[in-house]
Amino acid sequence: MRDPKTFRSHEWFHGDQYEHLARRAWLRSEGLGEDTFDGRPIIGICNSWSELTNCNAHLRQVAEAVKRGVWAAGGVPLEFPTISLGEMFMKPTTLMFRNLMAMDVEESITANPIDGVVLLCGCDKTTPAQLMGAASSDIPSIMVTGGPMLSGRWNGEPLGSGTDGRRLFEQFRAGQIGEEQWAEVEGCISRSAGHCTVMGTASTMASMAEALGMMLPGGAAIPAVDSRRYQLAEASGRRIVAMVSEDLTASKIMTREALENAIRTDMAIGGSTNAVVHLLALAGRLGIDLKLNDFDKISRNTPYIANIKPSGQYLMEDFYYAGGLPCVMKEILPLLHGEARTVSGKTLAEDLDGVEIRNRDIVKSMDQPLNAEGGTAILYGNLAPDGAVIKQTAASPHLLKHRGKAVVFERYEQLRAHIDDADLEIDEKSVLVLKNAGPHGGPGFPEWGHLPIPAKLLKAGIMDIVRVSDARMSGTSFGTDVLHISPEAAIGGPLAAVETGDEVELNVPERRINLRVEENEIKRRLEARPKQTPRYRRGYGRLFLDNVTQAHKGCDFDFLRKDAE
Ligand code: FES
Repeated sequence: MRDPKTFRSHEWFHGDQYEHLARRAWLRSEGLGEDTFDGRPIIGICNSWSELTNCNAHLRQVAEAVKRGVWAAGGVPLEFPTISLGEMFMKPTTLMFRNLMAMDVEESITANPIDGVVLLCGCDKTTPAQLMGAASSDIPSIMVTGGPMLSGRWNGEPLGSGTDGRRLFEQFRAGQIGEEQWAEVEGCISRSAGHCTVMGTASTMASMAEALGMMLPGGAAIPAVDSRRYQLAEASGRRIVAMVSEDLTASKIMTREALENAIRTDMAIGGSTNAVVHLLALAGRLGIDLKLNDFDKISRNTPYIANIKPSGQYLMEDFYYAGGLPCVMKEILPLLHGEARTVSGKTLAEDLDGVEIRNRDIVKSMDQPLNAEGGTAILYGNLAPDGAVIKQTAASPHLLKHRGKAVVFERYEQLRAHIDDADLEIDEKSVLVLKNAGPHGGPGFPEWGHLPIPAKLLKAGIMDIVRVSDARMSGTSFGTDVLHISPEAAIGGPLAAVETGDEVELNVPERRINLRVEENEIKRRLEARPKQTPRYRRGYGRLFLDNVTQAHKGCDFDFLRKDAE
């Protein structure tokens, strides 16, 4: 147990100088009594609540439950806001602002008299941003995510946000459902507070927080509106007070073993490809030498066992009723570092003690997995010298080994304008290629990688073709989409050299993505390409373009990595 004189807040409030009196007086102006300063830890509640971040719009209520726990355990809770990143509204893309939010989180914590912090997040980028900020500030930290929405339901079928919305949109474009039905879907797909209901990026990153040991066991999948989420929040408030006493800081939880546990869990749940970018960035904050290829090494011997959309059949609400993430982690425990510590104060193996797998349709056994390998595979080749990713469990099996002629779009706007042109020469064997959609090209590395299938192919019943880009894709998407090509086209990566008619070869079992064009010709084309003008000359956009790292390094700013110290 720590002496309260060693708490960070002690330096702010204890002393006989004017500033000590002033700080105490100003905190008392919020109605707090003088016993606030009798050695109780100050617990920050870092809230990404915002009505512009729909998925996090209920986090003020969650914060109230956290406060109950903090008060009950003898701490003093102080809630504070940071910027928030709402996936649905922000332009050009939320990934561009993840680092800004992570900086806000880090500086809000370190500049203030905070002894421990509870991180409240939910929508896709808010979770990694808070984890990255907590890693850099390195005080005792615990995460409570907002939880998934209730499952959608339309026409007698369950609807998963993102995944089923996109599926129905393709049916709408193909003329299989009409305008009236399409309008009905809008009212049925988002039924409550909370984040997307499939194993998209939000659910994946909540699962990563739990697998890293940064959330109390079982927290990731509890529906947003379930009373048990508020019980989790209250328990987390109690627990953070104890963590301050134990000096259980973020870097003692987020170790290399914890990151490997998270990657393995990501593979077992068929998690979002975005997790690759976020976990690489988090490792950089912690000074842990994690490489893109480490994901592939782990994926090769981790079975995919969680039957959840978009790779599987069920929704997050079903997953919770089946026991949630602890069931997956219990099943793959022989592959995990069971000795890793978690915010519970115990080891991961102790946390999982007594967990029973209740529904084998949703959480499969390692002996009879949905796929022998993990959800994500890492590809290399002359088209992606520094790597690319594909969610192999959400791809069409017949396309995992494929050769086809490229149909190339230089920019996303051009693709949107012409993808449905009647004279577009494209068929089911073609490889649809989009350039200039990476961190610099987008800019901001937008989720454009699930490129639309041309309407004429949809009408012919072709729902998937190989698609290749330097973009990301939403974790809720599905299809044979090669993503995160690194280096990206906008900085002169080989993707910039692809021309319509070139042959592209994808071989996922052998982890290859190649452009079947002579190396000399690729070099000639790259040298002849016109110089690009940066999209931003001032402001945050300029800071982003000047400092963002490529996808295979996590797209953090180079000066925020631990090795910049
Ligand atoms: Fe926020 Fe999907 S839009 S989680």
